[in-house]
Amino acid sequence: MILFKKTKDLHKWLEIQQKEVKPIGFVPTMGALHAGHISLINASNEIGNSTICSIFVNPTQFNDPKDFKKYPITIEKDIYLLEKSGCDVLFLPEEKEIYPDGITGNMHYDLGYLETILEGKYRPGHFQGVCMVVHRLLNIVQPGHLFLGQKDYQQCMVITKLVELIKHEKKIKINICPTLREENGLAMSSRNMRLNNQERTKAAAIYQNLEMIKENFKKGSLDKLSREAKSNLETDGFRVDYVEIADAKNLSFVNEWDGNQKLVALVAAFINEVRLIDNMLLN
Ligand code: PAF
Repeated sequence: MILFKKTKDLHKWLEIQQKEVKPIGFVPTMGALHAGHISLINASNEIGNSTICSIFVNPTQFNDPKDFKKYPITIEKDIYLLEKSGCDVLFLPEEKEIYPDGITGNMHYDLGYLETILEGKYRPGHFQGVCMVVHRLLNIVQPGHLFLGQKDYQQCMVITKLVELIKHEKKIKINICPTLREENGLAMSSRNMRLNNQERTKAAAIYQNLEMIKENFKKGSLDKLSREAKSNLETDGFRVDYVEIADAKNLSFVNEWDGNQKLVALVAAFINEVRLIDNMLLN
């Protein structure tokens, strides 16, 4: 694996690659890698891409400065995992490489409804920050394929919208890969590193409540189910931002199910200081 810190060096490598027929698969990350990230690298490699992974803890997407400060950094382990996975390139830029003019006064992305709900509502500015960094990274890497994890369901929709908005010359195909889970059902996430053993065990309740929704949803009112899941989590000591059932295509909330719409249940809840998100497609 080759490690590039500078865009100009990555571009020299990309120029050589363009002469070969292999397309570029891109996996953007903030590091603290786990098996979920590696499954994205594998998905890219499996369809014959040269795979580039970026690690950049993006300051503009943290609405809470404490969360940014505490974001886990495990760069040596990350490099080891990427080497082992057969990743071709690690792009590891410094802040000034991505934001040469600083992090303020950037452009605004019109994300419409998507930005007003769920993560958009509870983390104001978060998706603008995600768009800022992903836009810049896509301009730098110019991939044919982009790999994202379903665990960040709303982020996948936001980035899909971003790709439509920025209309790259080169068409970017977005590949959404399934969420990987720990044995107890807890969705893999870099944030899990901040949980102690007891919290990690307890965190499985998020998955269990999503399963409960999946097992019990039926035509008609869905309100009771999401309220029950929220109340179960609160009884277990979580601070719950939301439990919602929504249309899987556009995330509009569904209170009455017509029996046809594709549904997704989404949860965000804190265990002590650590905020976890998860989701499950219901049908
Ligand atoms: O999902 C993440 O790790 C980040 O939001 C992303 C897409 C790498 C942008 O910083």
